[in-house]
Amino acid sequence: MSAVPSMVTQTVPAFVKHKKLIAWVQEIASLTQPKNIVWCDGSEAEYDRLSAEMVAAGTLRKLNPEKRPNSYLAWSDPSDVARVEDRTYICSEKEEDAGPTNNWKAPAEMRETLNGLFAGSMKGRTLYVVPFSMGPLGSPIAHIGVELSDSPYVVTNMRMMTRMGKAVYDVLGENGEFVPCVHTVGAPLEAGQKDVAWPCNPTTKYIVHYPETREIWSYGSGYGGNALLGKKCLALRIASTMGRDQGWLAEHMLILGVTSPEGKKYHVAAAFPSACGKTNFAMLIPPASMDGWKVTTIGDDIAWIKPDAQGKLRAINPEAGYFGVAPGTNTKTNSNCMASLNANVIFTNVALTDDGDVWWEGLTKEAPAHLVDWTGQDWTPDCGRKASHPNARFTVAAEQNPVIDANWDNPEGVAIDAFIFGGRRSTTVPLVTEAKNWVEGVYMAATMGSETTAAAFGQQGVVRRDPFAMLPFCGYNMSDYFAHWLELGNKLESSGAKLPSIFCVNWFRTDENGKFIWPGFGDNMRVLKWMLERVEGKGKGVEHVFGTSPSYEDLTWDGLDFTADQFKAITSIDKAAWEKELELHAELFEKLKHNLPKALEDTRAAISKRLAA
Ligand code: GTP
Ligand code: SPV
Ligand code: MN
Repeated sequence: MSAVPSMVTQTVPAFVKHKKLIAWVQEIASLTQPKNIVWCDGSEAEYDRLSAEMVAAGTLRKLNPEKRPNSYLAWSDPSDVARVEDRTYICSEKEEDAGPTNNWKAPAEMRETLNGLFAGSMKGRTLYVVPFSMGPLGSPIAHIGVELSDSPYVVTNMRMMTRMGKAVYDVLGENGEFVPCVHTVGAPLEAGQKDVAWPCNPTTKYIVHYPETREIWSYGSGYGGNALLGKKCLALRIASTMGRDQGWLAEHMLILGVTSPEGKKYHVAAAFPSACGKTNFAMLIPPASMDGWKVTTIGDDIAWIKPDAQGKLRAINPEAGYFGVAPGTNTKTNSNCMASLNANVIFTNVALTDDGDVWWEGLTKEAPAHLVDWTGQDWTPDCGRKASHPNARFTVAAEQNPVIDANWDNPEGVAIDAFIFGGRRSTTVPLVTEAKNWVEGVYMAATMGSETTAAAFGQQGVVRRDPFAMLPFCGYNMSDYFAHWLELGNKLESSGAKLPSIFCVNWFRTDENGKFIWPGFGDNMRVLKWMLERVEGKGKGVEHVFGTSPSYEDLTWDGLDFTADQFKAITSIDKAAWEKELELHAELFEKLKHNLPKALEDTRAAISKRLAA
């Protein structure tokens, strides 16, 4: 074991009994040289102390306790506002195992780079040891991680997003398994140097995964998925490789429960790319005219899905909180979400009101006359700038959701009846389509396209292929991932199990003025109802080239003024547009040709033939 520099005072608390963990913390401390080490216990007192320290440091602002009790606002550095996909690496031994959709470097080479960057990177800062469980504590399907971070903001966010704290050490015992996660904001403080409100490294960022040894190293960013390493890094990128090896799925999916007026309960998992409506769909409030339907939330971002002994796919939400998009959220679009945000929230990059509360674009029809925007500048409605960043977020514990499902943290998970895939497409893709079978459903998911959003750094609003909404999150070769889905379906089907139906949706077709035609949000219940009727084998529809879609009469229209012409505008299938679309699928397949399952090539050929006929 390498020596810990004398300035690093560390007393390992008695509740930590894991020798390998203690040795690893020492090793990282001697590399990163923090001024001290804090072993987090996850208590409320610890949360309050760290929050108060961050208020004193200017990282957080305490919101008006009368308006928003026990809540805080953080403004990040303007260079650190979203995931950095071009700085995200999958460092498998072989490049082909990362595949053409991931950035890759040989592990040895990356380790050398990171050792250089991490050396002394925590100087002048505290190293926090953050133990967390993805999935219910102690459950056989949960996985434990320990994040070492020099960001107190990470600690308080992780406390809401995961099961974090002392109890994790009890589960770990003396030699339990954990995924080591190392995080630094990459902004060491020299002696006497004054800190900034949001330390990060404006020029150098690395989000690195070693799938074979299951390690995560993150450098230079303090924001969201870059820094809260249990989320995208562990629960998706590392977990997807575990799932490949062990026969299960880690997916970028919400999970919801839906109960019919007759009292029958269904469970649906839906994959939409970042900022495309997962949180909204997971908390959906059916329109008043659809009285009796009820939606409850199991998860809003990530699903771990495993076959049970009967071959039924069961899903759990590995997270314990929501890190959701603020802009666009209001009492009309998502009143359940608004109710979750009444107290105990960390807001990031939204605007501050004059009475010490928060505001974001879309919260109210009319903007307040004066705000302080997310960059700390005075803001008025006519100033020409946005008051909150488009990827501004809230962090809140799942338990605050008024429609949380009774089984949301049941370690057995819930049995999935249907999978839904959907991107943001202003043209071409119809409102809803049921795939003809599992293979064609996998094809639909694999070829999904979506217009990019502010949730990732880079060009926005361009259509890119985002297979299964997993493009930024698949920890291994995308074609092998497709094969894994096909094999799992094959295996379950041949064991006699009924597979979930697969649907593809698009809430985002626009008119000639660029306005969304479909009202979306609560009215998505109309589409969900049709999907469940199909699951029951009762729903009517029209079969077409790539599946079955409802005709106007097949949906419930009570309480909504939506004409057959409008319906046509969001469901029409344009032959020329689909010929182009299929060319884009071919382009994707060309890029993914190494190990691409033949069944997907064949499906493309079959659809192409049906379209031409
Ligand atoms: P991540 O947390 O980034 O993975 O995203 P998410 O999929 O959970 O995104 P979220 O539900 O927070 O969606 C945010 C954006 O989608 C907001 O701008 C919403 O206004 C918009 N949105 C959600 N549902 C709908 C819908 O049914 N129709 C339309 N037009 N927009 C929607
Ligand atoms: C996403 O971008 O899909 C998110 C937000 O859920 S983050 O955790 O920052 O990745
Ligand atoms: Mn997400």
